Amino acid sequence: MSITDEEARARSARPVRTARPRTVLMCRPEHFAVVYRINPWMNPGLPTDTSLAVRQWERLHGIYRDLGYDVHLIDPLEGLPDMVYAANGGFVIGNVAYGARFAYPERRPEGPAYMDWFRANGFEVVVPEAVNEGEGDFLLVGETILAGTGFRSSDASHDELARVFGREVLTLRLTDPSFYHLDTALAVLDPTPGHEHIAYLPSAFDERSRELLRERFPDAIVVTEPDGAVLGLNAFSDGRNVVIASRAEGFADQLRDHGYTPIGVDLSELLLGGGGVKCCTLELRR
Ligand code: ARG
Repeated sequence: MSITDEEARARSARPVRTARPRTVLMCRPEHFAVVYRINPWMNPGLPTDTSLAVRQWERLHGIYRDLGYDVHLIDPLEGLPDMVYAANGGFVIGNVAYGARFAYPERRPEGPAYMDWFRANGFEVVVPEAVNEGEGDFLLVGETILAGTGFRSSDASHDELARVFGREVLTLRLTDPSFYHLDTALAVLDPTPGHEHIAYLPSAFDERSRELLRERFPDAIVVTEPDGAVLGLNAFSDGRNVVIASRAEGFADQLRDHGYTPIGVDLSELLLGGGGVKCCTLELRR
């Protein structure tokens, strides 16, 4: 089948993207269940299938291995059903791991569990004073840390983060309870300084934050409401390959148009807890 001139032009205009295999930390959802409700996605009255959750997670784990990522695992603990969402376990740049301090008591013991893992694996751990939920709300783009607040991580944690890492922290305020962590509403596609590229859902932010995002990232991919609503933005990119919810089909097309390779994965079971691809992934930027 031949392509039209227009298609040919669009393809040749696509930027060339470079993959840099990542080092990540994950937690097998052996104890996953929805037994409390701390976000609107969670309904303890609905059944969950832990073995299906594990199978779906194994698929994500397999994709990362196939992409050449260095995947580390933390042991899941009984009684901590949300521990699979490793992104919340802390925020790491180089050898420094800023620990998490969870907003809800149900998840609080995960903070020390992740900090123990960081220590045992040679990281210098900064025990947090302020309430923060790690990479769920903090994303590194270029030299700047984008930091979410409004539902989980406190404003005070943004100041603490800036002190710990000595970097600019850009506060973004979330306003829609369905998008309660920054990584549910914004995805970093390329963090490389000089090539920064993100995707986001404007309606998840207050007006001031939307303005900031428009100013700082004029070439960002703006996703549609339906793609946002399946947590399409809860994606993980290595600069070329972008692992996303398979149901976010429009976002997949947008990614292709921008030179990326989307890889769809079905994490329907973990969506019952309000999380997707990125929530299951904590990047270790060594
Ligand atoms: N049930 C978990 C919570 O509400 C889901 C966490 C999702 N993690 C994320 N990085 N967005 O805390």
